[in-house]
Amino acid sequence: MTKSKFKGKKILVTSALPYANGSLHCGHLVEYIQVDIFVRFLRLIEEDVLFVCADDTHGAPIEIKSAELGISPEELISKVYDEHVKDFKDFLISFDNYYTTNSPENKHYSDLIFERLNKNGFIYTKDIEVTYCEHCKRTLPDRYVKGKCPKCKAPDQYGDVCENCNAAYKTIDLIDPYCAICKNKPIRKTSKHYFFKLSNFSKKLESWLKKNKNLQPEIKNFVFNWIKNGLEDWNISRDGPYFGFKIPGEENKYYYVWLDAPIGYIASTDNYCKKHGLKTEDYWNSKDSRIYHFIGKDIIYFHFLFWPAMLLGSGFQLPYNISVHGFLTVNGEKMSKSKGTFFTAREFLQKHNAEHLRFYYASLLSKTISDIDLNFDDFRKKINNELAANIGNFCYRVLNFLNKYFDGEIKDIDNNKKLTSEIKKLTRNIEKNYYGLNFNEAVKGILHISSLGNKYFQENEPWKLIEKDKEKVHKILGLCANIVKNLSILIEPILPDFSSKLQQQLNLTNLKWEDIKFELKNHKIGKDEILIKKMEEKEEAKQEFPLNLKVARIIDIKDHPNAEKLYILDIDLGTEKRQLVAGLKGYYSADELKNKKIIVVTNLKYAKLRGIESQGMLLAGDDGISVGVLTVEKSNPGDKVYFEGFENSNKELGFDEFLKITMVVKNSKIYYNNSELKTNKEIVKVERVKDGAKVR
Ligand code: 2FM
Ligand code: ZN
Repeated sequence: MTKSKFKGKKILVTSALPYANGSLHCGHLVEYIQVDIFVRFLRLIEEDVLFVCADDTHGAPIEIKSAELGISPEELISKVYDEHVKDFKDFLISFDNYYTTNSPENKHYSDLIFERLNKNGFIYTKDIEVTYCEHCKRTLPDRYVKGKCPKCKAPDQYGDVCENCNAAYKTIDLIDPYCAICKNKPIRKTSKHYFFKLSNFSKKLESWLKKNKNLQPEIKNFVFNWIKNGLEDWNISRDGPYFGFKIPGEENKYYYVWLDAPIGYIASTDNYCKKHGLKTEDYWNSKDSRIYHFIGKDIIYFHFLFWPAMLLGSGFQLPYNISVHGFLTVNGEKMSKSKGTFFTAREFLQKHNAEHLRFYYASLLSKTISDIDLNFDDFRKKINNELAANIGNFCYRVLNFLNKYFDGEIKDIDNNKKLTSEIKKLTRNIEKNYYGLNFNEAVKGILHISSLGNKYFQENEPWKLIEKDKEKVHKILGLCANIVKNLSILIEPILPDFSSKLQQQLNLTNLKWEDIKFELKNHKIGKDEILIKKMEEKEEAKQEFPLNLKVARIIDIKDHPNAEKLYILDIDLGTEKRQLVAGLKGYYSADELKNKKIIVVTNLKYAKLRGIESQGMLLAGDDGISVGVLTVEKSNPGDKVYFEGFENSNKELGFDEFLKITMVVKNSKIYYNNSELKTNKEIVKVERVKDGAKVR
């Protein structure tokens, strides 16, 4: 029934490499779910496909963040790597290889490409003016210089664009610039930098875009316009301190992270090929391969101009397609921490099911760059009315009926040409829509087939007919079971887990696209079970607790310059570092606090206390005489702290609202509405205070 669209060519699929400086969130997942569905479909239809990705580990933000955390960049990226890998696994993202850009392969290919570009005359050096902080001893990247916008004069704007008036400008144009790290005034300095002659590639890029029929037309137009307006050469070097690969022959200059990041696509392929006896050239230097990138619309410039120009200039193959998707909004708006609509992948999983999100995103995704919206009402309706009531229900009632009346035996199949040919037609369309990335249409097709099955079952009233014509009913159920089996294949790219459990119930395994047909008979199925449960109106019985509490470790203690009773504490929250102002002087010495593991409210609005910003608050008990901090022993920085039966909130909270929350001490433990404060490893204890002490 099926024919390979790619005619046996090797397909290499990539998704954008996520930055290694933070957690994955629901916005990231749009892309990884989209690509995973595509790749699983290609595998199912037996195309020769390889899916690679990696963490994007270089750049100033990672170097600065690790310095702040007091760990090496390598330690930071390895922590984040483990977290990313676990998130991807739990969302069923099936990379063939998930690697890192901080790898020997990536260094090899970065040097190779740089040297080839250099040899071919596409690289030159030039002195440019940079912003330098003498206190931090570093050149400051755009995001680390702040000042007044040169246009609207709004204070505290970044070095590249003004968030107030949207003006774009150069860092050196900022009025009264200051270093975002140490707040000192930076100086200007000249520094030699390496430039890539992007301008040389205008013609070639234009003709590639014209010839390539796979690219989305709206994106092509964007890019044509950029080319028409003239391309500027690209600065591909950065001064140290920087986390990245050193430029050959240089002491303190590195490749800009955006040079080696896309090369990570090649490096990850290479790493996979070495492990599996394959050849990297067969993907990157062959007429018989198809390179298929997926990206978000924020990184079009890098992937449609810099990257193909680098490939052209160094003799690698150009991408067959670069598919661009839109952003995620939540309840119609940009995700926002203060509105509680920003969810990390992990936070989402704590409340919901990964396959539900896969189904929901699939039902919205198409081959356009429109944004998609995560609306929680709509989400629940889709899961309940489409997934549970339609597909889940049909599969369950068919298998249950077969087991109940026919001992699980499929004997023969009702000959209903009209129904089977309609399903075959729908299947061809679903196939086209999977290939064409119109998953919303594929989902509609699958639901249509399931509705046809439900209708056929319902109209035949097998529960009545069985009294009169058991043999006919057996055939009807035979046809229904074939539809169930076909559905288990059709939906596999979207719901791999559901599909494999359903096939297990059917007593079948590892079905392929070519198994979508109506020939399953004389076969005994296994035990039936409900696989999809409806989502409750309000998820679970958990109540919301207005605070977000986490374990933190105190790394440094300083005296507040303008307040006698206050300390300034530097704390480590696992993957981030913050500064707190706390009124502990007179109760604790700096030595007593050093390295203590405390409990911090992380969703309080940042506030200035006597001129110093406090980015949260530590919790302590106060009985009127003594003050003692809440503390843990076995838990680690970043671990969640919660009251049993309550869910921490993500919403930003003001100090007034915080004061309304009552937590009390009993037997050195902390209670809120009779529930105990704990982490997953232990119960939180308070030091030094008596029963009845208040917690603030
Ligand atoms: O925008 C980002 O998150 C980048 N880390 C994507 C890199 S994609 C590729 F070029 F490496
Ligand atoms: Zn500085």
